[in-house]
Amino acid sequence: MTTTTPKRYTVTAALPYANGPVHIGHLAGVYLPADIYVRYLRLQNRDVKFICGSDEHGVPITIRAKKEGITPQQAVDKYHELIKQSFADFNISFDIYDRTSSKIHHETASDFFLKLYNDGKFLEQTTQQYYDEKAQQFLADRYIVGTCPKCGNENAYGDQCESCGTSLNATDLINPKSTLSGAVPVMRETKHWYLPLNEYEPWLREWIVEGHKGDWKPNVYGQCKSWIDQGLQPRAVTRDLDWGVPVPVPGGEGKVLYVWFDAPIGYISATKALTPDWEKYWKDEETKLVHFIGKDNIVFHCIIFPSMLKAHGDYILPDNVPANEFLNLEGDKISTSRNWAVWLHEYLEDFKGKGDVLRYALCANAPETKDNDFTWKDYQARNNNELLAILGNFINRAVVLTQKYYNGAVPTRNELTDYDKVVLEDLNGMPMVIAAHLERYKFRDGLGELMNLARLGNKYLADTEPWKLIKTDEERVKTIMNIALQISASLAILMEPFLPDSAAKLRAMLNMEAGMWADAGAADLLKDGHVIGTPALLFERVEDTAVEAQVQKLLDTKKANEIANSVTEPAKENISFEEFSKMDIRIGTILAAEKVAKTKKLLKLTIDTGIDQRTVVSGIAEFFNPDEIVGQQVSILVNLAPRDIKGITSQGMILMAENADGSLAFVQPSVAVKNGGTVS
Ligand code: MF3
Ligand code: ZN
Repeated sequence: MTTTTPKRYTVTAALPYANGPVHIGHLAGVYLPADIYVRYLRLQNRDVKFICGSDEHGVPITIRAKKEGITPQQAVDKYHELIKQSFADFNISFDIYDRTSSKIHHETASDFFLKLYNDGKFLEQTTQQYYDEKAQQFLADRYIVGTCPKCGNENAYGDQCESCGTSLNATDLINPKSTLSGAVPVMRETKHWYLPLNEYEPWLREWIVEGHKGDWKPNVYGQCKSWIDQGLQPRAVTRDLDWGVPVPVPGGEGKVLYVWFDAPIGYISATKALTPDWEKYWKDEETKLVHFIGKDNIVFHCIIFPSMLKAHGDYILPDNVPANEFLNLEGDKISTSRNWAVWLHEYLEDFKGKGDVLRYALCANAPETKDNDFTWKDYQARNNNELLAILGNFINRAVVLTQKYYNGAVPTRNELTDYDKVVLEDLNGMPMVIAAHLERYKFRDGLGELMNLARLGNKYLADTEPWKLIKTDEERVKTIMNIALQISASLAILMEPFLPDSAAKLRAMLNMEAGMWADAGAADLLKDGHVIGTPALLFERVEDTAVEAQVQKLLDTKKANEIANSVTEPAKENISFEEFSKMDIRIGTILAAEKVAKTKKLLKLTIDTGIDQRTVVSGIAEFFNPDEIVGQQVSILVNLAPRDIKGITSQGMILMAENADGSLAFVQPSVAVKNGGTVS
């Protein structure tokens, strides 16, 4: 744990796989907290590099490419651009957003591997590995699924169970199955290089279990400790794949580095690509290295990558790994394959210019200590009841009244009351309070305090009522408005890490330069006579219709998934042609339709069958509006024995097709057919 201010910072955010767009779970879990932290450090005038990029290797990429019928290179080109743009649109202020398919990265990762190889840090082992005979390929990582031996999750991958976070070898899985062909894999011999994690166990224990107790977040520390306590195994760092960084040693032909070996080295390559000064960000003990990640990445960033760095010997180790838990969406796990997500690029299409609102909602509800749920209702409430009603309202009052009473010139304070003094003191303490939270990676709490400052401002104005006092005590109002403006100016600085767009708007409104953290809290941030700008609204109301549309979109997704996943009923027993031809099915036209009283499902239909006009009672009322089906042609079984239904004699049956969600559709001729036409 660093107690004094470090000389510089290297802050990384997990390299997202370039196999799909990014969603709110990514933002809330990793990129937003990292960005808040870095923006805060910059305001503190610290030397910081914020590093990220696309993770473009590994099975997640090749699976995606195959699904889309494109090459892995085409897939990563497409998603790298999309992801990069989404981050830019949400003001995630990386110093570099690089990619692991770059030349620098291939060289860096290759050299890293070679150094460990030459220093004798690997075990070279020929073992039996799972092989898919149909696909003619070795199976590792996401090419193989099976039951997790630790928690029983049936969809654990060959390198990790995402349910309990355990890192696995493919051979640990129970009932393994190829995700390529569905086949049960066979064993085949192959050679790989292993990092003997077991040898690093004593060191890891000392470094993490003893060294970072009470310092790392409990969820991170707890996971690490339990892995170390269970005992670590050697881990293969190469794979039999053709997409990735080639293994640069004899016998490595046709093999690549394991994606989790090369990807974290991507942090180093990206820093190299950013600055010729890169070494001091990776090799100087006075640099504080912080990895922002999601909880499924903990083992890789706390155990495997540090062991790699330790084996290499030239590099510093992370000072902290503030991993977050997961964000769910409307009660369900976010899932790319089920399209259960709010995609960042789609959000901005529907909520133009409202990037900050999502940043706010996600930070206020961030999954810092446990999994959390994002709901559109909460999003709306955060905007309307907090951003708009508290922060926006306070700023608006301060700026509008200043324009109205003083033509925008900051009035001079007179003598202070006790209340004024308390308010100025609270204001003064605020930067420290928020900073203490941010330094400890408590972004929700930091944001909560920021809002408390806006609440303080609101309460101050509500208590002192300058809009009433202006008629009786103009001098007192000058003091009040001056103080309200000082609070506003501090807010403009302190909110920048959380709400960068809104902070810029507020600075323009106050006609104020971008300040530093140390400036905030001061009682004279805006000098007497300083002329502020014109009022503008910081936030707008989010209407019910806007969030209802989003909820509807999710309901549609759910329905589409149900249909896609529903099982088709098995075929019935065979019948003879004679049996089939006993059924007399005709085309008829609906002449009239009405609901059967006191029933939910029944419609009474009058059908022209070509033979006659007859009444049929049909259980379709939930899916059709009587007025809209008159005139439609349907298929009707005319020789079904008449039945009494709710006191009506039903003569025949309308043929219906049932969809997976239980909804019904008519079985109709593709062109108009004369009533009475036979169906056979
Ligand atoms: N691509 C990985 C994921 O999305 C994260 C890689 S982080 C790195 O889970 F350290 F390896 F870069
Ligand atoms: Zn598990």
